[in-house]
Amino acid sequence: MSWTTDLMHWYATNKRAFPWRETRDPYKVWLSEIILQQTRTQQGLPYYQKFITSFPTVNHLAAASETEVLKLWQGLGYYSRARNLWATAKTITHQYSGQFPTDFSSLLHLKGVGDYTASAIASICYDLPQAVIDGNVYRVLARHFGIFEPINTSRAFYLFKQKAQQLLDLNQPGNFNQALMEFGALQCVPKNPKCNICVFQTSCHAFKNGKVNELPLKMPKTNVQKRYFNYLVVLDSNQHFLLQKRETKGIWKHLYEFPLWESKRNLKQLPVQAKKILDFESSTPWQRWKVTPVIHKLSHQELHLTFWIATVLSPLKKGISPHQMKAYPVPVVIQNFIHEFFGLSA
Ligand code: ADE
Ligand code: SF4
Repeated sequence: MSWTTDLMHWYATNKRAFPWRETRDPYKVWLSEIILQQTRTQQGLPYYQKFITSFPTVNHLAAASETEVLKLWQGLGYYSRARNLWATAKTITHQYSGQFPTDFSSLLHLKGVGDYTASAIASICYDLPQAVIDGNVYRVLARHFGIFEPINTSRAFYLFKQKAQQLLDLNQPGNFNQALMEFGALQCVPKNPKCNICVFQTSCHAFKNGKVNELPLKMPKTNVQKRYFNYLVVLDSNQHFLLQKRETKGIWKHLYEFPLWESKRNLKQLPVQAKKILDFESSTPWQRWKVTPVIHKLSHQELHLTFWIATVLSPLKKGISPHQMKAYPVPVVIQNFIHEFFGLSA
């Protein structure tokens, strides 16, 4: 039997039931694939359900506000994905009369849709012969076929895409793609893969050569930029505080945060210039909430967050309460701070 046939047999007996596997509606497949690029399947499921309940069709999603979309996305990270999701929903609704395009290259032109998502939609919804390449696919193919190319390079992408295209089951490309990803998610997992019960034991290069823990290869990470965020949490007598929309490009664009002063290093005291970002003076001195900053690691940045606390006597004009904050999309580190600081339950 061929490798592909073995894989499809494995999938038939091992696949998990997920709502996005019960449909070929491109809206649902697109939505699920965008979410699943950001998180593992089990964690992605509640997000998918929230989105489908709030926005049953692409037209509903297009009619939402950006803030609503970001709020539903909150916690998944990489918020440009949520903004692109919303932008593409509007494109589909207004330029394509609510119908997703049915060819690969038009799909690729949609915002936030790259080779992975276009291939997933094309194969699952329209039976087009496009293999998907994601982290699971890299791992399974690198191990089984003994491919020693570092996977985080563009060269690797073409190499693995070619390999996957050769293996693709042309009669059911959508199932093949999902089978390969599912195999990587359940069987050929990153740590301690289940080689002892694997259908590919006799053909797997890595298994036969004792290289399972070495593959896939990765180039060392490019240097991670460290950034130091000082958040000014000013509380009035009602325990209200200020929250502002982040307009800068890059991380967390259009999410909400406290007034921010970015510094070159961790600070022990808040400098005068930082205090000036508020157009009033606090009544108490600025104190660090905790001596050690909260460290938040992103793929290319390491954020050091210090929360500075002070109070004012008169009520803040635009102050909001921890309860009102529930309507605002905020980075999870800020959500965690609010919960801990105000002693709220999650
Ligand atoms: N990971 C992301 N999308 C998937 C899918 N459709 N099937 C299996 N694993 C996935
Ligand atoms: Fe993956 Fe191990 Fe199976 Fe090879 S034998 S495909 S490394 S689970």
